[in-house]
Amino acid sequence: MKNRMFNLLLVLIVLSLFSVSAYPQDKKGIPKASKKGTTCSTCHPDIYAVLPKNHKKVSKNDISACIQCHKPDKSAKIEPKAYVSILHRSHIKQNITDCSMCHTYRANQFGLHGYKVSYGKLSREDFERIKEIFISWSTSKNTDAIHGKADILCSACHGKHLPVTGDDVENITCLNCHGPLETLKKQSEPKDFPDRNPHNSHLGDIACTVCHKAHKPSVVYCLGCHGNFKMKIPGEE
Ligand code: HEC
Ligand code: HEC
Ligand code: HEC
Ligand code: HEC
Ligand code: HEC
Ligand code: HEC
Ligand code: HEC
Repeated sequence: MKNRMFNLLLVLIVLSLFSVSAYPQDKKGIPKASKKGTTCSTCHPDIYAVLPKNHKKVSKNDISACIQCHKPDKSAKIEPKAYVSILHRSHIKQNITDCSMCHTYRANQFGLHGYKVSYGKLSREDFERIKEIFISWSTSKNTDAIHGKADILCSACHGKHLPVTGDDVENITCLNCHGPLETLKKQSEPKDFPDRNPHNSHLGDIACTVCHKAHKPSVVYCLGCHGNFKMKIPGEE
C-alpha cells in the first residue's frame, strides 16, 4: 500500500515536471525551436490560438501550410506586410531567435520551408548580422523598430536582394514614403527658430542617414557644431 502511494506520488511529480516546460528550452529557459522534430505544434498545440479570430482553416501546423495562401512575395513592394511581420516580431520578442523553424539555409542559400525559390546567397557572417538586425527591428528603439511596429520589412528599404554587410539606402527610397522633400522641410520647420530646420539648412541636401541611423541610435548631426540648439530626433538613445 505504502509502495503504491509512493509510486503515485512519483508519477505526479514527473507529470508536473513535464507540464512546467511547455516549450523545448535551453539552459537559460529560452524557448528553443531547432531541437529535432520541433514543429509549430510543439509550442502551439492549437494553432488557432495564435491566429487572428475567424482565420481560415489550415491543413497542417507547419509554415509550408501557411504559404499556400500567404504567397511568398519577393517584389519588395513598399507597403506594410502584417503577416510576415507578426511571424518574426512575435517570436523574437519571446527570445525565440531560431530561424530554422521557418527558414532553410543550405549551401549558403537562404530559403523558406516548402518554397523552392531561394531568397539569395548569404554568408554565415551576413546571416548572423541579419539575425542581430532582426532582433533590433523587433525589440529596440532604433529607426528599424519604428518601422517594424508599422509592419515595414527589410525589403521596403533594401529592395529585392537580401541585405548584406555594408549595404546603404538612398534618400529617394526614404522619400518614396516620407516625401516629397519640400513637404518634409515644411513639416520640420521649428516655429521659434525657422532656420534651425534639420531638413533645410546650410548643409544642403545631405544623406538622411547622416542623422537617421537605421540599426543603431540616431543622432542630430547639427548638434556636433551647434551645441546650443535644442533638437530631438526619433529613434535617438
Ligand atoms: C519554441 C516555441 C515556438 C515554436 C516552435 C513556434 N512558436 Fe509561434 N509563438 C511562440 C510564442 C512563445 C509566441 C508568443 C506568445 C503567444 O502569442 O502565444 C508565439 C506567437 C506566435 C504567433 C503570433 C501571435 C500574436 O498574435 O502575437 C503566431 C502567428 C505564431 N506564433 C505562429 C507560429 C508558427 C506558424 C510556427 C511554426 C512555423 C510557430 N509559431 C512556432 C512560440 C513558438
Ligand atoms: C486557406 C488560406 C490561408 C491559410 C492556409 C493560412 N492563412 Fe493566414 N490569412 C488568410 C487570409 C485570407 C487572411 C486575411 C487577409 C490577409 O491579411 O492576408 C489571413 C491573415 C493572417 C494573419 C493576420 C495578418 C494581418 O493582416 O493582420 C496572420 C498572422 C496569419 N494569417 C497567419 C497564418 C499562419 C501562421 C498560417 C499557417 C499556419 C496561415 N495564416 C495560413 C488565409 C490563410
Ligand atoms: C514563424 C516563421 C518565421 C520565422 C521564425 C522566421 N521567419 Fe523569416 N520569413 C518568414 C516568412 C513566411 C517569410 C517570407 C516573406 C515573403 O516572401 O513574403 C520570411 C522572410 C524573411 C526575410 C526576407 C524579408 C523581406 O524583407 O522580404 C528575411 C531576411 C528573413 N525572413 C530572415 C529571418 C531571420 C534572420 C529569422 C530568425 C531570426 C527569421 N527570418 C525567422 C517566416 C519566418
Ligand atoms: C527604414 C529603412 C530600413 C529598414 C526597414 C531596414 N533597414 Fe537595414 N539599413 C538601412 C540603412 C539606412 C542602412 C545603412 C546603415 C545606416 O545608416 O544605419 C542599413 C544597413 C543594413 C545592413 C548593413 C549593416 C552593416 O552592418 O554593414 C544590413 C545587413 C541590414 N541593413 C539589414 C536589414 C534587415 C535584416 C532588415 C529587416 C529586419 C533591415 N535592414 C531593415 C535601412 C533600413
Ligand atoms: C515603405 C515605406 C517607408 C520607407 C521606405 C521608409 N519609411 Fe520611415 N516610416 C514609415 C512608416 C509607415 C512609419 C511609421 C508611421 C509614422 O510615424 O509615419 C515610419 C516612421 C519613420 C520615422 C519616425 C517618424 C516619427 O514621427 O516618429 C522616421 C524618422 C523615418 N520613418 C525615417 C525614415 C528614413 C530615414 C528612411 C530611409 C532610410 C525611411 N524612413 C524609409 C514608412 C517608411
Ligand atoms: C541633419 C540631421 C537630419 C537629416 C540629414 C535628416 N533628418 Fe529627418 N529628422 C531630423 C530631426 C532632428 C527630426 C525631428 C524633427 C522634428 O521633431 O520636427 C527629423 C524628423 C524626421 C521625420 C519625422 C517627421 C517629422 O517631421 O517629425 C521623418 C519622416 C524624417 N525625419 C525623414 C528624413 C528623410 C527622408 C531624410 C533624408 C531626405 C532626413 N529625414 C534627413 C534630422 C535629420
Ligand atoms: C560642421 C559644423 C556644422 C554643422 C554640422 C552644422 N552647422 Fe550650422 N553653422 C556652422 C557654422 C560654422 C556657422 C556660421 C557661424 C555661426 O554663426 O555659428 C553655422 C550657422 C548656422 C546657422 C545660423 C547661425 C545660428 O547659430 O543660428 C544656423 C541656423 C545653422 N547653422 C543651422 C544648422 C543646422 C539646422 C544644422 C544641421 C542640419 C547645422 N547648422 C549643421 C557649422 C555647422
